[in-house]
Amino acid sequence: MIQEPRELTALAGSWRGQGQKIALVPTMGSFHAGHLALMHQARQCADQVVVSLFVNPIQFGSGEDLAAYPRDLQRDMELAAGEGVDVLYAPTTSSMYPAGFQTTVRVAELGRGLCGASRPGHFDGVCTVVMKLFSQTQAHLAVFGEKDFQQLAVIRRMVRDLDLAVDIVAHPTVREASGLAMSSRNSYLQDDEREQALCLYRAILFARQKVKGATQPLSAEVLRREIEGNIGQVPGCAVEYVEIVDPDSLERCETVQVNSRLIMAVKIHDRVRLIDNARLFEL
Ligand code: PAJ
Repeated sequence: MIQEPRELTALAGSWRGQGQKIALVPTMGSFHAGHLALMHQARQCADQVVVSLFVNPIQFGSGEDLAAYPRDLQRDMELAAGEGVDVLYAPTTSSMYPAGFQTTVRVAELGRGLCGASRPGHFDGVCTVVMKLFSQTQAHLAVFGEKDFQQLAVIRRMVRDLDLAVDIVAHPTVREASGLAMSSRNSYLQDDEREQALCLYRAILFARQKVKGATQPLSAEVLRREIEGNIGQVPGCAVEYVEIVDPDSLERCETVQVNSRLIMAVKIHDRVRLIDNARLFEL
């Protein structure tokens, strides 16, 4: 494990000097099968795989779960080693944000709506830390999960806008057998809440069924409202947003298109915030 940014950058520089390809998987730890799948994919694509583990304080709003966020470094080290990760990079907060730190990377439009609306500044925190991780690891490629679809779109935009020489590789969402998308925050759910949390996956199945059965273009707004209504009927579930969007611009679609993405956030018992998304036309 490496904790010092300068140590990692020196190592990455020597890898680069030897012509080795570097892959980065940025994480906040508390690994589950979704994280491990990203590591597995990175392993296939590069000579050196760096997994960063940093619970990034600047992407949490006040009143969010920064202090409660699950942490288990020993277990994470073992799991990463099992995936053949070369370096687990776990910097301290003071080494990432030393006194005087004052730079922010902001993707203006894409970071504002959807999750950005209820978590103002969240994607600024994500972009700023990911930019630092790219530069510290000198990665040729970085693997992100589709689970956080807006994050993926924001990072892709940042890479284009800032001419970064990092390939962004997207990995499909990994789900539990029940269909619940894997998330470190699932550990906050009690048994009955896990059942309620399935409203997200059920919404995806419902929407896909509608799309499959349609004989003419479906109104995205009609479908959106139906889904919102279905989720709203599940006891304990409150919709934060349900949208059907273009996968690149994240703008609302008028009708459901081949690439359209259903993207949702719900709160379970006003306590646990869960997100999910999916393409509506199955490939
Ligand atoms: P974290 O929530 O730990 O997620 C790390 C990576 O794992 C992200 O790319 C996320 O999309 C992916 N991931 C999470 N659950 C997944 C699942 N069920 N299937 C597939 N991939 C999944 O996202 C973050 O951390 C942070 O915002 C970070 C990018 C590290 C910046 O701090």
